[in-house]
Amino acid sequence: MTFRVVQWATGGVGTAAVRAALLHPEIDLVGCWVHSDDKHGRDIGELAGTDPIGVHATSSVDELLALDADCVIYTPLVADKKVVAALLASGKNVVTPLGWFRPSERDAALETTAVDAGVTLHGTGIDPGGITDLFPLALSAMTSAVTFVRAEEFSDLRGYAAPDVLRWIMRFGGSVQEAKDGPMLGLLTGGFTQSLRLILDGMGFDPEAEIRTGHEIAVATAPIDSPLGVIEPGCVAGQRFQWDAVIDGSSVARVAVNWLMGEENLDPPWTLGLAGERYEVEIEGTPSSLVTFTGFNSDAIEKAGDPNPGIVATANHLVNSVPYVCRAEPGIKSYLDLPLMAGRAHPKLARR
Ligand SMILES: NC(=O)c1ccc[n+]([C@@H]2O[C@H](COP(=O)([O-])OP(=O)(O)OC[C@H]3O[C@@H](n4cnc5c(N)ncnc54)[C@H](OP(=O)(O)O)[C@@H]3O)[C@@H](O)[C@H]2O)c1
Repeated sequence: MTFRVVQWATGGVGTAAVRAALLHPEIDLVGCWVHSDDKHGRDIGELAGTDPIGVHATSSVDELLALDADCVIYTPLVADKKVVAALLASGKNVVTPLGWFRPSERDAALETTAVDAGVTLHGTGIDPGGITDLFPLALSAMTSAVTFVRAEEFSDLRGYAAPDVLRWIMRFGGSVQEAKDGPMLGLLTGGFTQSLRLILDGMGFDPEAEIRTGHEIAVATAPIDSPLGVIEPGCVAGQRFQWDAVIDGSSVARVAVNWLMGEENLDPPWTLGLAGERYEVEIEGTPSSLVTFTGFNSDAIEKAGDPNPGIVATANHLVNSVPYVCRAEPGIKSYLDLPLMAGRAHPKLARR
């Protein structure tokens, strides 16, 4: 059986999702929404840097709402709740890295829309997603009496070839005040708070835990080359964001990101540590465990410009979830509701 799938937006995650979908035995790409006018009418394969596949992108929402499809992989820059609701109401399941990792009371109307239409909405990705909630939950099954959970990213952002995002959204390269006033903490808090809540739910921590946020900044002490240009002394060259779920004054679950423009000429003198770029998932209890993930970072400047492995992993997680989400009970479903979701064998090695 194959599922008819629409890709929504062709940025970094969207184009990687198209490439992964073309290799997935249970997926037929049948449509694609694009934001920019100059992408309208172009072949989806061509937009994703592969051979043409004979399916053309459109900037018309109505055209895709009317299309017969089982699922939409929804990866635009910002989520439009009205569009998500319309996609669900049109009978399409939706998988997205933009939210709905853990539904809350605020999602009641969307939940009703999904249930009435008999479809499922699922939020997934890497961070939020795999690293910050799925793997902590899975790893914790081998520990009793959990006292603390940590999921943390350590990245050298000189490998992130998105100068506008780095400068104007993440606020690297400007003043400390500009970074403090920037949108990043707010943008990240929504998703990472959902990760913490999923951990609290899944492991049975007190749901009344208080969520605390932290944002620390390092500045350059000498000029630093970066994808956004030279970062001058005194300007932002490192940022650390942290979210803690706190019970009785102690953190019981933490999600953190450490984003550095290299490891030299920073004040404070932050480094990524001896283990370098990585993601870590740690569980404290009986016994305690620590898992380090490599391969999802970008290998810094040598591979700048290549598809970022974390973005590709995000796209793969979305694509691989499609058959499971299409078969799920209707509603907004998290990792706690869905079965274990696996990747698929390379076509050359697949079951015949
Ligand atoms: N959960 C996770 O682990 C995870 C990981 C990575 C990314 N994300 C999220 O996934 C989303 C996509 O990331 P990305 O790396 O693919 O971003 P990206 O490369 O910047 O691509 C964004 C896409 O959104 C489109 N777009 C631009 N402005 C828009 C607007 N005003 N309304 C709707 N669409 C617009 C762009 O269209 P054009 O190309 O036509 O201009 C582009 O296709 C982001 O929100 C990001 O935060 C989540």
